[in-house]
Amino acid sequence: RGVGVVVVAAGSGSRLGAEMPKAFVPLAGQPLLRWALASVLRVQSLTSLVVVVPPGYEAPGHPAWQGGWLPASAVLVAGGAERTASVAAGLAALDPACDVVLVHDAARCLTPVAVFERVVGAVRAGADGVVPGVAVVDTVKSVDPDGFVTGTPDRAALRAVQTPQGFRRAVLDAAHASGLDATDDAALVERAGQRVLVVEGDALAFKVTTPDDLARAEGLVADGRV
Ligand code: CTP
Ligand code: MG
Repeated sequence: RGVGVVVVAAGSGSRLGAEMPKAFVPLAGQPLLRWALASVLRVQSLTSLVVVVPPGYEAPGHPAWQGGWLPASAVLVAGGAERTASVAAGLAALDPACDVVLVHDAARCLTPVAVFERVVGAVRAGADGVVPGVAVVDTVKSVDPDGFVTGTPDRAALRAVQTPQGFRRAVLDAAHASGLDATDDAALVERAGQRVLVVEGDALAFKVTTPDDLARAEGLVADGRV
């Protein structure tokens, strides 16, 4: 028993456009990944931590780890070309004894530990899969390939979802065994016919994607909001 966490940090960060992979871009002087791990390490009954990194970074002697900030307990694994492949690589390296798995984006570097605990709690309470989500503020349209609107889903029924996403271990392993691709893990579990619950997310769990997002994160840190 125990909670295993896979932190996916293997993306290049093309939309951020920095000269290094996004997870290693500094926020207030510390890599985004280090900020993310600070919350992960506070998760109750954390028994296995896998960090999925760009190929080459899995060597503990890589210069990116200078300063000794990588937790000794972290297992490094090289990621794949797509996020789904990176998650699968991380799952394969997780301690088999973990019965709950969380998958977390390093890019959601300011996610409060309370979100992790809410997700773990809901998995322990019996959900197959659990995702943190927040209300959508914009009205959302679906469109056809020419840009014409095909529908307007009821906004009250929509949630923008974040990470960490949590699953019973067997559920996530089975979902990834399908070999399909998706932008989040819950989608694979949904496709497998399993029920996914949305719990309350947090505005601080936003994903650093663009330079504006990084500036927002810098502002939050500077203002002492995290
Ligand atoms: N990720 C990963 N392996 C990939 C792609 C993404 O581990 N092949 C991780 C990223 O490191 C990030 C999370 O998945 O923590 C969410 O992805 P995203 O925000 O899209 O990051 P990038 O793919 O790095 O950014 P971009 O799409 O702008 O290139
Ligand atoms: Mg990406």
